Amino acid sequence: FLQILYPSEVISHNMEKIRVYAPATVANVACGFDIFGFAVNHPGDEVVLVKKSSPGIVIKEITGDEGRLPKAVEKNTAGIAIIKYLEHIGKPDQGFELSLHKDMPLGSGLGSSAASAVAGVFAANELMGKPLSQKELLPFAMEGERVACGSAHADNVGPSLLGGFVIIRSYDPLDIIQIPTPSDLYASIVHPQIEVNTKDARSILEREITLHKTITQMGNVAGLVAGLLLPDYDLIGRSLVDVIIEPARAILIPQFNVVKAAALEAGALGCSISGSGPSLFALSKGKETAERVAAAMAAGFHQVGIGTEEYVSEINQQGPMIR
Ligand code: HSE
Repeated sequence: FLQILYPSEVISHNMEKIRVYAPATVANVACGFDIFGFAVNHPGDEVVLVKKSSPGIVIKEITGDEGRLPKAVEKNTAGIAIIKYLEHIGKPDQGFELSLHKDMPLGSGLGSSAASAVAGVFAANELMGKPLSQKELLPFAMEGERVACGSAHADNVGPSLLGGFVIIRSYDPLDIIQIPTPSDLYASIVHPQIEVNTKDARSILEREITLHKTITQMGNVAGLVAGLLLPDYDLIGRSLVDVIIEPARAILIPQFNVVKAAALEAGALGCSISGSGPSLFALSKGKETAERVAAAMAAGFHQVGIGTEEYVSEINQQGPMIR
């Protein structure tokens, strides 16, 4: 009796070690608090996961975090995501050794905790022979966000896991949609070297919103989706407006108004806070414009002596990548 095994099955069932890179993300995208996010090609986080013969998950090393991230597995976003995943697939005794290489600043608003959780749970699923689809991994990656900032929002883990521009239409039940983006759409991201804690940035938000603001925001949410799908760059630009969250959080970011004005002056379609900040993002048509915009935004922070990192990227369509 001869059993035919295809190469991918041989690989997936025998694999003992894997290296996975998951991309950074821009959450909210101005008007879509907790419901919009997109992935960029870089920066990102890398996880190396090795199967162990004994139960338990051990964090072997974390680099790039200046010693700040918890090594206790339950407190680590990648660790908890893997634990919840293994419980769900009925293999809680499978052991792993986990190494995490942070290639992006912590507390930057670029979905750092999300990228680690996504890389971790994606790696585990590959080593377990892929019992779940990529989309089915989302709730476990969201558990990583819960330990990182107390709220299991999906607007960073969603796009980091699936790539592209993602809409979270509903959290209960979870309903997540990936939509195409125009090929010439580029993101400029500027990270000022200050830190904003997501938990704090959520706690300052107003709990009640006026009907007037709600209507304005809904118009922009609908306009942004239509602009991406048509595609219509001017409509994208007109819709990158947030009348609810940005006004409250802008005070946490020195030079916010100057940097935003500089982005628009340099030709950006729109500019707002990336996730809970302090990074700002802008969207532009074309790579050259996006590069000019990033430089102008960075200069706005440099005026007051705040150092920056800048990233220019197309919208990442792939999500996690095996290296
Ligand atoms: N939607 C979340 C927030 C993203 O703005 O708080 C945090 O990265």
